[in-house]
Amino acid sequence: MAKLAINGGNPLRDTKSYPWPAWPVWDKNEETALLEVLNSGVWSYNGPKEVLFNKMFAEYIGTKYAISTVNGTITLQLALEALGIGVGDEVILPGLTWQATAATIIDVNAVPILVDVCEDTWCIDPKEVEKAITPKTKAIVPVHLYGNFADMDAIMDIAQRHNLYIIEDCAHKHGGEWNGKKAGSIGNVGSFSFQLSKHLTAGEGGTLTTNDPVLAEKLDALRNCGRRPEGNDYTDADKGAGVYSDDGNFIQSGNFRITEFQAAILIEGLKRLPDQNRLRDKNGIYLNSCLAELPGVVPMRRDERETNEAYFNFAFRYNKDEFKGLPVEKFRKALASELGTGVESSYEPLNNCSLYVPLTKPSRYKLNEQQWKKIDPSRFELPVCEKIYKEESVCLHHKILMGSKTDMDMIAEAIKKIYDHADEIV
Ligand SMILES: Cc1ncc(COP(=O)(O)O)c(C=O)c1O
Repeated sequence: MAKLAINGGNPLRDTKSYPWPAWPVWDKNEETALLEVLNSGVWSYNGPKEVLFNKMFAEYIGTKYAISTVNGTITLQLALEALGIGVGDEVILPGLTWQATAATIIDVNAVPILVDVCEDTWCIDPKEVEKAITPKTKAIVPVHLYGNFADMDAIMDIAQRHNLYIIEDCAHKHGGEWNGKKAGSIGNVGSFSFQLSKHLTAGEGGTLTTNDPVLAEKLDALRNCGRRPEGNDYTDADKGAGVYSDDGNFIQSGNFRITEFQAAILIEGLKRLPDQNRLRDKNGIYLNSCLAELPGVVPMRRDERETNEAYFNFAFRYNKDEFKGLPVEKFRKALASELGTGVESSYEPLNNCSLYVPLTKPSRYKLNEQQWKKIDPSRFELPVCEKIYKEESVCLHHKILMGSKTDMDMIAEAIKKIYDHADEIV
């Protein structure tokens, strides 16, 4: 008789009786806040909720400024623009990330330079960054992927030695700390996403964090059609940071403003985030200690400088050789069947990613032959990213880390069950 749920056996978890914690989390506070916005008639445009959320988020991250926008894609694009990155410039990023990290670089006419990641953290490998630097390099975009951190000491050291900007892609790292400093407060600018799957969400949304008043003023203008910010003190002297001419707007831009409804939800979510992060971190540490005892799976390496972890996904590494050759795709399906929750691979490496295909848009990106060749993602070799994607990656939604210790034990038990009965599905 089949034992594994994927083969018709009994699943370890009966999710009808014992559902996993739900995501997103909300209660009466969101309802009240949304009604307040509705009744106020102030639904957007630098409203009180937006101003308050920006203040709260900047305080939380530990930066002087936070500027909210429509999503965590536009944040990256505006950060690049505000730093003056454009035609002919090169920007280095990891080959294992969501496509937006690279696509936005192409959208400002610069060249994304994909480099490989560290096999034990899946974050950008500083040695590969160093090798990829050329006289055209202007910036590095480290991505703090899933439950891990890019080595920010090494990245900041490289940036200083080569005079490069750092845009931290913190779409997965709201509240995570490196050496006591929050992600988004270490580089020149931090970029956050509040899309539904993220651990602080308003359905959609994004924020930029920085300590630099000139950059903050530019970002504020760029998200608001180029308008000179009103009522924002970007310098001590309250005269603006000096990026405007006396009479005009700063720059051509579009409308990337967040709404008051989003800001209202974010304010309530941010109040819960520290406790939620603490719980996820506690469970993550415990679950990793369980995985370390199991054959065929390897927990992600947690650097001792990660003083607080913030999980977007809980990820671990799989070794099919110890599971009698069971391919990782089948392992993920078997685990999903036992637990009654989604189990996914990592992102597709960007040198061969179905959603990162800049060469499908010649009328937009073919500025000249040279640029066209440079933006071809297939020219980059990313063996570590490919191994992670094709053979190793197992990722679970962060909501599973909001359960109990018994829930964590059950995840470990499910892995062990598949290990014991791998014969059934090899
Ligand atoms: C690493 C990373 N960067 C950027 C983004 C883009 O954020 P958004 O979906 O809010 O545009 C995402 C979203 O999944 C992401 O995971």
